[in-house]
Amino acid sequence: MDKVRAKDFLQSMLGILNGGALSMMLSIGHRTELFDHMAGGGPLTSQQLADIASLDERYVREWLAAMASGGIVDYNADAETFTLPEEHQALVTRAGGPMNIAARMQYISLLGTVEDDIVEAFSTGAGVPYSRYPDFQRLMAEDSTARFDAALLDVIIPAIPGAHDALTAGARFADVGCGSGHAVLLLADAYPNSSFVGFDFSDDGLAVGRDAAAAARLTNVEFVAVDAAELNRPDEFDIVTTFDAIHDQAFPATVLENIHEATKANGTYLCVEPRAASQLAENMLDPVAAFQYTISTMHCMSVSLAGGGEGLGTAWGTERTTEFLTAAGFVDIQTVDVRPDRTNTYFVCRKS
Ligand SMILES: C[S@@+](CC[C@H](N)C(=O)[O-])C[C@H]1O[C@@H](n2cnc3c(N)ncnc32)[C@H](O)[C@@H]1O
Repeated sequence: MDKVRAKDFLQSMLGILNGGALSMMLSIGHRTELFDHMAGGGPLTSQQLADIASLDERYVREWLAAMASGGIVDYNADAETFTLPEEHQALVTRAGGPMNIAARMQYISLLGTVEDDIVEAFSTGAGVPYSRYPDFQRLMAEDSTARFDAALLDVIIPAIPGAHDALTAGARFADVGCGSGHAVLLLADAYPNSSFVGFDFSDDGLAVGRDAAAAARLTNVEFVAVDAAELNRPDEFDIVTTFDAIHDQAFPATVLENIHEATKANGTYLCVEPRAASQLAENMLDPVAAFQYTISTMHCMSVSLAGGGEGLGTAWGTERTTEFLTAAGFVDIQTVDVRPDRTNTYFVCRKS
């Protein structure tokens, strides 16, 4: 028995306990906009913050106590005031865009809602279907919208060889597993000579996309309900994208074959998947590996298994993704650097 190791582990476990608790309080701070109200301002008492945010002081005070003891905000015990340090602001406020990790904490709360289902699934081996995650589309859209707004037009499209020129001239573009469709909405607005289709099997997601297209009077984008494993649009698209939409498929190989078929000869496919290696040993030092394997167990792997599928898992990784792309018939597979997004790998490939 190594007593030092036992003591270190106790510290580590207490850190995890506090971190787990704080993740939900950070999610609440994001949803109530408390961080946004604190940002840029000076020290505030709980009453002042509650007044600014139009929230109940007792709840705000208890939340602030968690934030202060967790090292998220500074506390002045004499004045009983709280300050969000400038150095913390980008990681917890909406102004931080894709840097806002407090927004991501919502995933932890979401996973908590299906814990009973997942515990049951450990016995049965069955999956947990998308329908058990009613808040998923809203949360996913919030997460990816920040990323698309920061990088899609200025970094991602320019990183795909020839894409900007093709879209400017007029191209046909599909996003498979589009969710609420923010990517195709941004593109449809930026490239009026091109036409865009968002495919998904989530009516909730597609409805958000359709409403946004109508509100923005975009006539060059449509949203189509389809199971990607049954997508049948041969040789129709110059460019196809998937953003985090392959690894949780029930039948990813079939979906990739359908995407290959839907792509025109010489057309381009951008496949964006969570950044990971395919071997656990190579992910051990990744700072978000534990988060990835958790979200995999409690969502991505499980929704795939629920569809009778492979359950690839969130961290199926670069090597396996490349194998699947090759097997589907894609060539010239390269990864491109998309700096504002460190959580995903961007595979660009071509239909020969
Ligand atoms: C992780 S989300 C990503 C959504 C979107 N691309 C984004 O970045 O916000 C995966 C999406 O794939 C969709 N999806 C999963 N399996 C599907 C299938 N077999 N056919 C169509 N859509 C599917 C889900 O409904 C969900 O919207």
